[in-house]
Amino acid sequence: MTCPERKIAIYPGSFDPLTNGHLDVIRRAQEIFDHVIVGVLYNSSKRQPLFSPEERVCLIGESFTDPLVEVDSSRIEVETFDGLLVEYARRKKAVAIIRGMRALSDFESEFQMALMNRKLNREVQSVFLMTGSRWIFTSSSIIKEVARYGGDISDMVPGVVERNVKEKFGNPMA
Ligand code: PNS
Repeated sequence: MTCPERKIAIYPGSFDPLTNGHLDVIRRAQEIFDHVIVGVLYNSSKRQPLFSPEERVCLIGESFTDPLVEVDSSRIEVETFDGLLVEYARRKKAVAIIRGMRALSDFESEFQMALMNRKLNREVQSVFLMTGSRWIFTSSSIIKEVARYGGDISDMVPGVVERNVKEKFGNPMA
């Protein structure tokens, strides 16, 4: 008897920090794949991250323990990765790269990245999942911008992320 192979997907990103939009994509990916690996890019070209890659991995893991965050944590792994995404996918035996798609503005860069990834490794497919319409305007950068000036981000990120973002901006929750 041969056991069916687990279908593994990588969900890569900066996750600086994780948002409810990212969680929405993870939940949707879990409906399709047996195992989802959340890959936090180690050396991003983006300048001045708010959290270190290790902090981001830790925040993502802690978010999964929040009962309000309904993901199946037994089928998720969170880790950092470095180098080419397609090589990471190959090492992890992933069949797909998941990317969330919010609006048309995401399309061009995602399309370019997907085609380049396909050129580099034809064995891994890019799969785009539409985020729920609630999260269309949610992004890590806008959340940081709002939090920096003391705005309310409570319905856009999990509780543990909210607490840590506020702390980073010197505005700890009471
Ligand atoms: O959350 P982000 O910043 O949009 O994620 C971008 C990410 C991490 C998916 C992308 O920068 C990436 O895959 N980097 C790894 C290096 C790589 O493979 N680059 C070529 C992709 S065309």
